Parts: sequence; C-alpha cells; structure tokens
Amino acid sequence: MTSREPSEKELSAETDRLFEHGLSDLGYTDQDLERCARLTWKINSLKKSQQAVIPAHVYQRAEIIHGVADFIGDSYKLSKLCSETKARKIVFCGVRFMAETAKILNPEKEVLLPALEAGCSLSESITAADVRQVKAKHPGAPVVTYINTSADVKAESDVIVTSANAPQIMKKLYAKHDKIVFLPDEMMGANLAKALDKKLGKELITWKGRCIVHDNFDASSVALYRKMYPGVKILAHSECSPGLVSVVDMIGGTGDMMKFVEKSKAPSYMLVTECGLGDLARTKFPGKVFVPMCRLCPYMKATGLEQILRVMEKPSPTHRIELPADIIAKARKPIERMFELSEDTVKL
Ligand code: 13P
Ligand code: SF4
Repeated sequence: MTSREPSEKELSAETDRLFEHGLSDLGYTDQDLERCARLTWKINSLKKSQQAVIPAHVYQRAEIIHGVADFIGDSYKLSKLCSETKARKIVFCGVRFMAETAKILNPEKEVLLPALEAGCSLSESITAADVRQVKAKHPGAPVVTYINTSADVKAESDVIVTSANAPQIMKKLYAKHDKIVFLPDEMMGANLAKALDKKLGKELITWKGRCIVHDNFDASSVALYRKMYPGVKILAHSECSPGLVSVVDMIGGTGDMMKFVEKSKAPSYMLVTECGLGDLARTKFPGKVFVPMCRLCPYMKATGLEQILRVMEKPSPTHRIELPADIIAKARKPIERMFELSEDTVKL
C-alpha cells in the first residue's frame, strides 16, 4: 500500500508543525524540515488507514519523536503502553528487544521493526543456553533479567526489570532471597550491588554483558566539567561504570533523568547517555542549559523515516516480529511479574 504525495498546502502545514516542535533549534535546516515533512505526512496518513501505532524510545531521532511517534518513553513506559494499546499494528521505533517485548504483550497483533540493524550489545551478550547454565550453577536464586534481552532469554527468567524499576524490584526480592542472579549487564549489576549493599559474585551474581554506549564514558573528565560549568548537575544512566557513577549527582534510567531535570532548578545539566535524550530535553525544556556529553547508539539510530515508510508501505517478512508461541507464553510471565512489582513504585 503506497501513500500519495502531500499537496503543497499539506506539505507546508506539516513543515510548520515540525518547526513548532523546535527541530530548527536542534540544527535542522529548512530543507531538512521539508524533506522530513514529506515523509512524516505520508507515515501519519498510513498510520490512520492501517490503525497503526508508533511507539518510540527517547533515543530515537528527533524527526521520529516529534514527527510520527504516538508515544515516547523509556523501556518501561513503552512496554506498559504497548500492553494497553488498542491499535491493530505496532511499528516499533527502537531496537529489536523492545519490538519483541511489544510482540510478547500483543501476540495477535502485527509488530514491525523498521530497521533490521537495530540490535543491542547487551541483548546480544547472552543466550538462553547461557541462562540455563547460570541457573544450574546457582539453584534456587531468582533470575532477574534486564529488559535489554531477547525473548528466548526472557523466557528463561523469573522477573524482568528496566532501569526505571531494577533497584526497587531487587530490594523486594532480597527480602525473601539471599542470592539473586542479575543478567546480563555487568555494570548495572555492579551499581545495583553497591546501591543495595550486596556482595558482588556472592549475593548478586551477574553476567559479562555491556552497553557499547554507556560503558565508554570517562570519569576523569567530570571534575573538569564541574569547574567549567559551576553548579552543573551530572546525570548518568545506570548502565555506566561504577567509577563514573561514583562521581555524578544522579544515576537512573532515561525516565528518571527527565523527571530530575523537570524538578531541578540547577543552572545546567549534563546527561551522560545516548545523545537522543539531550535532544529531547532541549526541546522539552527550552529554558534550561544542556552541556553536551553524549554518545550515539548505532542501533538506536539505525531507524530513519525512510525505513518506517518502507515497512508500512511494503512490510517484508524479515521486518515482522515472529516468535514461537511457547516462547511468548514463557516470556510473558516475567514481564507481567515486573508490572506487578512496579505498580507501587513507578509513575509513568
Ligand atoms: P531506558 O529504559 O532507561 O530508556 O534505557 C534503555 C536503553 O537502551 C539504555 O541504553
Ligand atoms: Fe543497547 Fe546501549 Fe544501544 Fe541501549 S544504548 S540499545 S543498551 S547498545
């Protein structure tokens, strides 16, 4: 199903709409806006005719977030909203593990992933067979798995967590267990062990997965930034190394970082994470100053408007998320457990 071209009037209204979202302040030229508007106009008309919904992670490109997304958020918010959507089709702008989560929660719906390169180094660090081996080594210990994992890995887990709820859920589990297996992020595992005062390798068992974006931030430059920007608040994602986390003002997920900025009166902020969050913060809080200290995630940035349009016009089987029924049934349980355990702590 191809979409028609917008008329001159429709194109100009769409270009104005993107401008009003502050895209020019992020460096989009008039030509960029017009090129994006042609695509967003077509995607938005297909969305209506196909009864599709577009969830987008906050690291996605600004033209996706402001141009076509129906809802944006961190991994927790996206999975929760996907579990409630009435749409017939989900075109997921994020990475594969997020689209798989949407499929697990909506087995009867068509879920499309526009870019096949949209993987994740954490998700790729572990297989279901690895989880089975870890479980055999630590019998009785609950397996708490970060949402950044494949459906097969989720199917072997007891509870899924995200950056928005991991400390709270782990705390609840430690009330009943002496040892927990946390997979697969080594850095986040170390940060959790420190925050919860647990012995790494004994009370908290982790894996060797790392995020290629957050693993590489350098703690030694933090002192220099503090001198250059007096009063700056430095916020880091919980996938960053414990060395970096020990010198920042706040650690958490992308949702927590946005909530912190919203409430704080600091003169400036440094968001130590993927660059998309800074772009979003600049458009959401135009009166606040954001000091650049970010990295691009090649997986998150693999999705562009062209790929979204292509997958909506001509979906190919490779872009359609298909999972075996038994994996869906097994993986759904630990995700639902996460929803139950987060009810009293995570506000969307
Ligand atoms: P959040 O759930 O905090 O948005 O994190 C997702 C992610 O991929 C971080 O790198
Ligand atoms: Fe995965 Fe890191 Fe990219 Fe997030 S930022 S999708 S954890 S590689």
